Amino acid sequence: MSLIGVQDEERSDLSRAESRAMRDRSLRLLGSLVRPLRGRLVVTVVVVVISTVLRVAGPLLIAYGIDTGLPALTGGDPVPIAIAVGTFAAASVVGAVLMYSYQVWTARISQAVLLELRTRVFRQTQRLSLDFHESYTSGRIIARQTSDLDSIRELLDGGLNNLVQGVLYMAFTAVALVITDPTAGLVLLVSLVPLAILSRWFQRSSQVLFRRSRVASAKVIVHFVETMTGIRAVKAFRKEKRNEREFGDLVEEYRDVNAKVIGLFGVFDPGLVLIGNVALAVTVLVGGLRVASGALAIGALLAVVLYVRQFFSPAQDLAMFYNGYQSAAAALEKISGVLEESPTVADPTTPIDLWQAKGHVRFERVHFAYRADAVVLPRFDLDIPAGQTIALVGSTGAGKSTLAKLISRFYDPTDGRVLLDGVDLRQLHPKDLRRAIVMVTQESYLFSGSVAENIALGNPEATREQIIEAAKAVGAHAFIEQLPNGYDTDVNKRGGRVSAGQRQLLSFARAFLANPRVLILDEATASLDIPSERLVQEALQTLLADRTAVIIAHRLSTVAIADRVLVMEHGRLVEDGTPAELIAGTGRFAQLHAAWRDTLV
Ligand SMILES: Nc1ncnc2c1ncn2[C@@H]1O[C@H](COP(=O)(O)OP(=O)(O)O)[C@@H](O)[C@H]1O
Ligand SMILES: [Mg+2]
Repeated sequence: MSLIGVQDEERSDLSRAESRAMRDRSLRLLGSLVRPLRGRLVVTVVVVVISTVLRVAGPLLIAYGIDTGLPALTGGDPVPIAIAVGTFAAASVVGAVLMYSYQVWTARISQAVLLELRTRVFRQTQRLSLDFHESYTSGRIIARQTSDLDSIRELLDGGLNNLVQGVLYMAFTAVALVITDPTAGLVLLVSLVPLAILSRWFQRSSQVLFRRSRVASAKVIVHFVETMTGIRAVKAFRKEKRNEREFGDLVEEYRDVNAKVIGLFGVFDPGLVLIGNVALAVTVLVGGLRVASGALAIGALLAVVLYVRQFFSPAQDLAMFYNGYQSAAAALEKISGVLEESPTVADPTTPIDLWQAKGHVRFERVHFAYRADAVVLPRFDLDIPAGQTIALVGSTGAGKSTLAKLISRFYDPTDGRVLLDGVDLRQLHPKDLRRAIVMVTQESYLFSGSVAENIALGNPEATREQIIEAAKAVGAHAFIEQLPNGYDTDVNKRGGRVSAGQRQLLSFARAFLANPRVLILDEATASLDIPSERLVQEALQTLLADRTAVIIAHRLSTVAIADRVLVMEHGRLVEDGTPAELIAGTGRFAQLHAAWRDTLV
């Protein structure tokens, strides 16, 4: 099981064409996200360019003040120095204000992008059909919505800002330096060589380590989540000791990688400082000599020293950018992959409305396979008249649940049609489909919220009276009354926890309230004990009275209330008749029924 998508991190075996397709996909997504923000982006770029120019202008103004302003002042003219100081102050204030608005604008842009991405991923994962969710584990979906969006956020909030600011700052500083003193520019140029070597080394080694660190942390999380979701099995099989060892190894690996990352910084940071200081020393030496010989003014030397000192400060951010960029790019690739999936069970383009469904279900030459090589239903024909109650029996794997999923359109047939009142389910308006056909399965999921809210899922407009009536109809009222706050009990709070059987009763109430024309129960009574099942069975009589129903039951007692029994084997109907007919016969159902009767006495 890949919960957080460890294998997603390993993409080494991709062909060129595939990785190009992936990059194009990411770029398309990026384009669609950025296009609506074009205006804001232009403003932001203008703001950051002006604020950087103002910051870089500082040392030049100081040089002007010292070299021109001071002599003039001694000569009795205070104007030049006043201009220098005034401009410096103004540049600082305006620069600070612009810097502030740059931060605000970039934050707005990045938050807008993230909001849009989050919403898109959520909408899309909800929109995609069941087959997607059966192959794409929930853990991977969770990773898309959490860690992937986080790495994009980190890049947008920090990395990209730093990159833009850093590159501009270094470029403008270099230009100003060359303007002030070309010789010092030469010193800086030479120092770029060791800087480039060091940065390249850091970027390469850290790329490998950061990747390993991401994989290691994903493994830690996967192991943790698996242990916790399977905690019952862990306890039942006394797996704690083994888990501890495995977890210990994973955490150890994570620590090792992180220690190595820290080690890298231990070399990189001092290396940067060293290069910066050597460049500064050479600048001071060369500049000092030139000042002594009169080739350079003292103010200009000060400006040069300030520039060289500042030049190296963004270097670390720039070297780090690549890592952030890489993990964000990988994240964007994975997210764009999910976003470009299209649902296999698509909504109709020109839906047909069916306001008053009667409940006539028909399978016409239906062929169905989950995977091309394993056919589950080969050419299946079935006609269920409106109002009929069908009991569907057959051994495990016969295809009963598949049949149920086709009626409720969780899947579409590979070939042939499933019809409701003569309308192909693929053309039926999704709203009408959901209103007309409801399936209750064994896994009755309760959402956080009160018992009443959970029942009202079947019909959000239902009044409290209708909710209670539904609960009474399926025999759930009595236990709900016993809960700490009755119908207002929170099902996820202590005391509100309900048993598996009670959960099923609640999902029956939900279905009753939804009042569909066609009701499918797929082993929906499996977790009920015999008395509860008997209660439900009485309720079923009323519940099924005037609608079409398909009951897949593992206990044959349910069959008694059916009008018609279908026996299914290997995706085919092998028997079809009233319960009385089939019991009287000698077929498969008669044998099953006899065996079942024996267990009762
Ligand atoms: N999501 C799925 N993907 C692939 N094969 C599946 C899937 N669900 C069921 N199958 C296969 O389809 C066949 C019929 O399964 P199912 O309809 O669940 O049987 P039943 O409900 O009668 O026990 C089985 O062989 C099962 O392995
Ligand atoms: Mg089944």
